[in-house]
Amino acid sequence: MPGIVIVGAQWGDEGKGKATDLIAGRVNYVARYNGGSNAGHTVVVNGKTYALRLMPSGIVNPGVTAVIGNGVAFDPQELVEEKSKLEAEGIDTSHLLISLSAQVTTPYHRLLDRVSESHRGKRKIGTTGRGIGPTYADKVNRVGIRVADLFNEKVLRAKVEQNLALKNELLTKIYGTDPVDPDKCTDELLKTAQVIKPYCTNTALVLNRALDRGESVLFEGGQATMLDIDHGTYPFVTSSNPTAGGACTGTGVGPTKITRVVGVSKAYVTRVGAGPFPTELTGQEGDWLRERGHEYGVVTKRPRRCGWFDALVVKYAVMVNGLTDLVITKLDTLTGLKKIPICVAYDVTEPDGSTHRVTDMPVDQAEFASAKPVYKEMDGWSENITGITDFDRLPAAAQAYIREIENLVGCRVSLIGNGPSRSHIIRLHSIVE
Ligand code: GDP
Ligand code: IMO
Ligand code: MG
Repeated sequence: MPGIVIVGAQWGDEGKGKATDLIAGRVNYVARYNGGSNAGHTVVVNGKTYALRLMPSGIVNPGVTAVIGNGVAFDPQELVEEKSKLEAEGIDTSHLLISLSAQVTTPYHRLLDRVSESHRGKRKIGTTGRGIGPTYADKVNRVGIRVADLFNEKVLRAKVEQNLALKNELLTKIYGTDPVDPDKCTDELLKTAQVIKPYCTNTALVLNRALDRGESVLFEGGQATMLDIDHGTYPFVTSSNPTAGGACTGTGVGPTKITRVVGVSKAYVTRVGAGPFPTELTGQEGDWLRERGHEYGVVTKRPRRCGWFDALVVKYAVMVNGLTDLVITKLDTLTGLKKIPICVAYDVTEPDGSTHRVTDMPVDQAEFASAKPVYKEMDGWSENITGITDFDRLPAAAQAYIREIENLVGCRVSLIGNGPSRSHIIRLHSIVE
């Protein structure tokens, strides 16, 4: 009964969609456990690119049941849009299940996300504006709407009314926007509810029964370790737990059912939105990486901030997720560089002005924000590596780069991506036995 978790090891957009798709062909279920339509997961099949937000990446694989778990911030309008777009592209979306306990993102959550961001001014987080923070805030505040409520008009209307009584005060008096009409909002939710109803069920029961029967489940995380609400670069984080523990709370499957935890990392680093990023390259080298790697957001189209591989970040991801395997993506993007720096330590400054060198991730965010990277320079390579499927056929410098990453972060590399397609992959160790 393999239970495999896929988790981002950096700040997101590492290629989790591609990694999930590669493994999905060998599992029965792919379950999203956190986040919502803030995610943008790219899957390239037969030269066609699918950009998925809320849908688990397994949806493009007809042999797999795609599950939206209880830990997801579920936006029914977004789902319906995404579903019809995929169907127009020839993807069958009937093999989808949605948890009745997932929290619902409503139009007022999206609105609150956007207005509160602009209200923050210079201190803004750079959210995706998808209502993620406000949805999880309501969940924790115990006033959230769950998917099951969408099928009970009386309960839904009362909850929306109760929520908007307070939120409209905030919207009109603090943020200076128009109020949201509770009846209109409820009617819209009831309409979309009819479309999604056939897919909604007790997904925890489905997944546990499948695992008990000996079937396999791939748990697909949105976002990443450094965006985790507990373990990331708080407050510049998302509002859920992308880290491996989130796979259990976000689906209702116990930790004893998890057999592998696979971290996905780029061969360099990108970040979208605000917050500290020690190896960021703001000059020409950053522009080169962005253009070479086509580093623009799937959801917001924002240019991604780019930097050198940070071994402290991935070593930390190995620790907090208990990673058993690493997938290193976009090795091909680095082709053509004479030297490739890897960050092996930080010089950090204390509040008293003293500095010292660390090789583990600082937890104090003021310390992390002061971190100056210390680099080890690796040799680069110039040969085109896209399409190579055998590790031994990679240029010696590319092999050494991967081996150095393994040494520094303390986890084996099992898959290496050298191009966007399903076929652009080097397999070193099998992930599904
Ligand atoms: P996710 O959010 O982690 O699923 O990642 P995104 O889809 O947001 O961003 C990853 C981008 O890198 C996508 O455009 C992928 O098609 C692309 N990609 C993934 N792996 C590779 C790789 O090995 N090489 C190249 N060149 N592109 C890749
Ligand atoms: P995938 O799954 C990269 C970032 C936003 C912002 C912060 C909070 O594609 O890797 P939110 O809208 O979640 O409240 O924004 O988190 N962020 C992501 N960055 N990839 C993502 O998802 C992200 N999801 C959120 O840019 O800095
Ligand atoms: Mg993405």
